[in-house]
Amino acid sequence: MNRKVTVVGAGNVGATLAQRLVDQELADVVLIDIVEGMPQGKGLDIMQATPVEGSDSRVIGTNDYRDTAGSDVVVITAGIARKPGMSRDDLLNTNYKIVKECTENAVKHSPSCVLIVVSNPLDAMCQVAYKVSGFPKHRVFGMAGILDSARMRTFIALELGVSVENTHAFVLGGHGDTMVPLPRYSTVAGIPITELLPPEKVDAIVKRTANGGAEIVAFLKTGSAYYAPSSSTAEMVDAVLKDKHKVLPCCCYLEGEFGIKGLYVGVPAQLGAKGIERIWEIKLTESERAALQKSAAAVKELVDVLKL
Ligand SMILES: NC(=O)c1ccc[n+]([C@@H]2O[C@H](COP(=O)([O-])OP(=O)(O)OC[C@H]3O[C@@H](n4cnc5c(N)ncnc54)[C@H](O)[C@@H]3O)[C@@H](O)[C@H]2O)c1
Repeated sequence: MNRKVTVVGAGNVGATLAQRLVDQELADVVLIDIVEGMPQGKGLDIMQATPVEGSDSRVIGTNDYRDTAGSDVVVITAGIARKPGMSRDDLLNTNYKIVKECTENAVKHSPSCVLIVVSNPLDAMCQVAYKVSGFPKHRVFGMAGILDSARMRTFIALELGVSVENTHAFVLGGHGDTMVPLPRYSTVAGIPITELLPPEKVDAIVKRTANGGAEIVAFLKTGSAYYAPSSSTAEMVDAVLKDKHKVLPCCCYLEGEFGIKGLYVGVPAQLGAKGIERIWEIKLTESERAALQKSAAAVKELVDVLKL
C-alpha cells in the first residue's frame, strides 16, 4: 500500500515540498489549502510531471480535509511568510490561529499521523500543534535545524572549496535570531571546521548562517525562502517513511534535556517511523550551553504570549 502524506498550505514551501515528495516517489501526496482551485491546479501540474520524472506517486489538491484521511505524515506549512524588515516572531498571532485550525482539522482525519510543523515562528508553532493535537511528544516536531545546518554546510563548502557532501553541521536552539550554530560539531570529512579555518572565517560563517533566511527575504522582497526549506522538510518525511533512525537537528519537546523543560527547541534527535525516537544530549561547553539557554528563553517569551 502506498504511503500517504498531507501537506497543509499549498504556497511556496508546501507546493515545492509536494513536488519533491512526488518526484522522489516517496508517497502519495494530498496538497490542501484554503484558497479554492489553487491546490487543485498545482496538484495537477505536479502530477503531470510524473511521466517525465518517472514517478508513480499520485498527488491531488483539495480544500476538503476529508481527502487527507488516514495520512501517515501531515506537514503544516500554512501561514503567512515574512517580508523584508519582519522577524519570524512578527508572524506569531496570525500563524497561531492558522496552525491551530490546520492542526485540529488534520488530526481529526489522521489521528495516527506524525505531525511535522514548518510554519513560523517555528518553535512556538510546534508548541501550538502539540497542545492542540493532544498527540504524544514524539509524534509532533518541527523543521528548522536541517535548513539552518544546510545553510551552514553550504557556506562551509563554499569557503573551503569542498563538496557539500563532505560537510556536516549542527545548528541548535530556536529558529530565530538566537539560533546556535555549533562550529565544534561542524565538520568537513569528520574534521571540525575550527581546525580548518581561522576564527574570523568561522565567525563569518556562523553569522551568515544565523542571517541566512533574512538574506533571502531581502532579495525576494515578497516572501521567504522555500527551495531549501522544502528539501529539508522532505528529508524529515523520508526519515519517517523509511524508518531510517536518522540523527538530525529537529525541533523537539524537551522535558529536562539540556536543562530545558516544557518547551520546543531545536536539538539533535533520531528520527524514524514513530517520529522522534531519541534525543541526543550531546556535550556542550559553558558558552554553548548558555547560548542554547538564551535561545530557549526567547522561545519561551513567544510561547508565553500565546498563553497555551
Ligand atoms: N521552519 C522553517 O525553517 C521555515 C522555512 C521557510 C518558511 N517557513 C514558514 O512556512 C510558512 C509558509 O511559507 P510559504 O513561503 O510557503 O508561504 P506562502 O504564503 O507561499 O504559503 C502559505 C500558504 O498557506 C495558506 N493558508 C493560509 N491559511 C491557511 C489555512 N487556514 N489553511 C490552509 N492553508 C492556509 C495560504 O493560502 C498559502 O497558500 C511561513 O510561516 C514561513 O515563515 C518556515
